[in-house]
Amino acid sequence: MQIEVKNKKQDFFAVITDVDIKNISNTNFVKIKQTLETYGVVVLKNQNINDNQQIEFSRKFGDLEKALEHDKLEGIQDEITRISNVDQHNNILPVDSKKVIYDRGNRSWHSDSSYKSIPSKFSILSSREIPDQGGGTEYIDARYALETWNKKKHKPSLEDLKQQICQHSIVYSRMVNTGDIFDESYKNKMPFVKQRLIRTHPFTQRSAFYVGSHCSHIVGWDIEISRKLIKEINDWIMNSGEIIHHKWSNKEIVMWDNRRVLHRGTYFDESSARRIMHRTTVAGDMPSYKESVKL
Ligand code: OGA
Ligand code: MN
Repeated sequence: MQIEVKNKKQDFFAVITDVDIKNISNTNFVKIKQTLETYGVVVLKNQNINDNQQIEFSRKFGDLEKALEHDKLEGIQDEITRISNVDQHNNILPVDSKKVIYDRGNRSWHSDSSYKSIPSKFSILSSREIPDQGGGTEYIDARYALETWNKKKHKPSLEDLKQQICQHSIVYSRMVNTGDIFDESYKNKMPFVKQRLIRTHPFTQRSAFYVGSHCSHIVGWDIEISRKLIKEINDWIMNSGEIIHHKWSNKEIVMWDNRRVLHRGTYFDESSARRIMHRTTVAGDMPSYKESVKL
C-alpha cells in the first residue's frame, strides 16, 4: 500500500494505491483510517466493488446512515445514497426531474448530513459510471481556514466564534440552491438542527470551521447579521486554502472526513452523459453542539 499526500503544507488530501478493500488486512485498514483522519480526504485508486462490498468495508468505520428518500433507488440497500442521473430502468432522467435538480444541490460547498441532529463522520463515495467530461468533485480544507483566520481582517475573534451554535437545514440550503423542491410533509420531517460553528477533531485535536451550504444562521443572533458572518466564513474557507479538484476514474473510491472538509460536485452534461455514484456514510456519535471545543 502506498500513500501520497497532495498538499503537504496543509496535511490535506492523500492518494492510496496498491490496496484492495475487498480483501484488506487489519493493519492496512487501521492505516487507511489514520490517513483519512490525518489528511481529511483519501482517494483509493482501482476499487472495482459492488454495494455489499462497499457496505462491508464502510461498516469497519462505524454504524452507517440510512439514505434519505431522495437519495434512494428502488431495489438497492438502505445504506446506499445514490447520486445519479440514471433511473432504476437504467435510463437517463430528464434534466428537470426532481432527482436531477435535487442532486444539483450538491454543487454548493457542504458537509454531508450537517442537517441531521447527529451529523456524519465520513463519506465513502464510489464511482460506478462517470462522464467523459466534467462531473469531478472538489474539496477544501476548513481546518486550514480556521488556522489562518486573519485576526486583523475579521472582526469576531475565534474565542468568540468558538462559543457559537448554528442552525442547519437541507430545506434551507436546497431552497437557496435549487428552489422550493420539497413538499410540506418532507419539510416538517427535516427541521433545523443545532451544530457547533467550530469543531475540534477527536483524533487530531485540531479545530475546523463547520459551516457549508446547510448552515443557515446562528442561535440567538439576528438572522441577517449571522448569515453575513456565515458567508464571510464560507468565503474565507474558499479563498484561504487550496481547492483540490478530483477528476474521477471509473471504479475508484474517495473518502472524506465531514468534520474537517467541505466538498461539492461540479458540472457535467446531465442531458446526455451518465453518472452513477454510490455513497455510504458513517454516522457520528452525538450532536456536535454537545462536543467540547478547543482552540
Ligand atoms: C456526495 C456529494 C458530489 C459529487 O456524495 O456527498 O456531494 O460529485 N457528491 O457527486
Ligand atoms: Mn455531499
